[in-house]
Amino acid sequence: MNAKPIITKPDHVAIVMDGNGRWAKSRGLPRVAGHRSGVKTLRKLIEHAVRIELNTITVYAFSRENWQRPKKEVDLLMDLFISALESEVEDLHKNNVRVTFIGDRSEFSNKLQNSINQSESLTSLNSGLCLNVAANYSGRWDIIKAIQSIAQEIESKTLAVDDINEKLVSSKLSLADYKDPDLFIRTGGEQRISNYLLWQTAYTELYFTETLWPDFDAKQLDLAIDWFSKRQRRFGKTAEQLEQTQN
Ligand code: FPP
Repeated sequence: MNAKPIITKPDHVAIVMDGNGRWAKSRGLPRVAGHRSGVKTLRKLIEHAVRIELNTITVYAFSRENWQRPKKEVDLLMDLFISALESEVEDLHKNNVRVTFIGDRSEFSNKLQNSINQSESLTSLNSGLCLNVAANYSGRWDIIKAIQSIAQEIESKTLAVDDINEKLVSSKLSLADYKDPDLFIRTGGEQRISNYLLWQTAYTELYFTETLWPDFDAKQLDLAIDWFSKRQRRFGKTAEQLEQTQN
């Protein structure tokens, strides 16, 4: 009998959900129809992630640069966030999913901020999948906030310059409580990070697929995980060193 291949699951998956606009355009639909379909994809993906017991997923829902899109699209996206949270949060809660948001929520409408806060507090004690939603987030913004916090502590003499190290910087960033992403998935064919989790993806395996986000499904997530499980993660060491420690 053949032994089953061992699939090493990623602990934390970061996702850039790209391609909604092109998906809609190719069907002669308005861009927002692509985003609506994208929410359905996210829902199915979360169901699958719960089934296969992933620990953490961090999705890029809205970057700080996305404010530059046409006002109509931004407004429709904001409405979609509110309606998606209102319609999905109970089910997420029933599935033991903990929802948290990273990014500057203070720039959102009060209504959206309330939905965000309510989703977080309703699900805060859940112990299953952690779903982090990056909204009004960017990697450089995150790093600048960390630098400001460290500079303030130095100014107030509660910290010395020599105390600055990777651990300290990580502790000042969004996702400080989470392990760095193991796997980064970007749909939609572009091969870039787009100012996402810049510090946190230093050693993340990067997976790009042509599939547009609304067409991404459980099978595609499994393919990405399968690809990940075949990667040799060296973290700066040589392949030989790793093989020695494995034997
Ligand atoms: C990028 O595709 C997608 C977005 C900017 C929005 C993604 C948001 C969702 C799927 C909704 C998530 C909802 C919640 C509540 C977490 P694009 O518009 O850049 O597509 P294109 O590259 O084809 O133009």
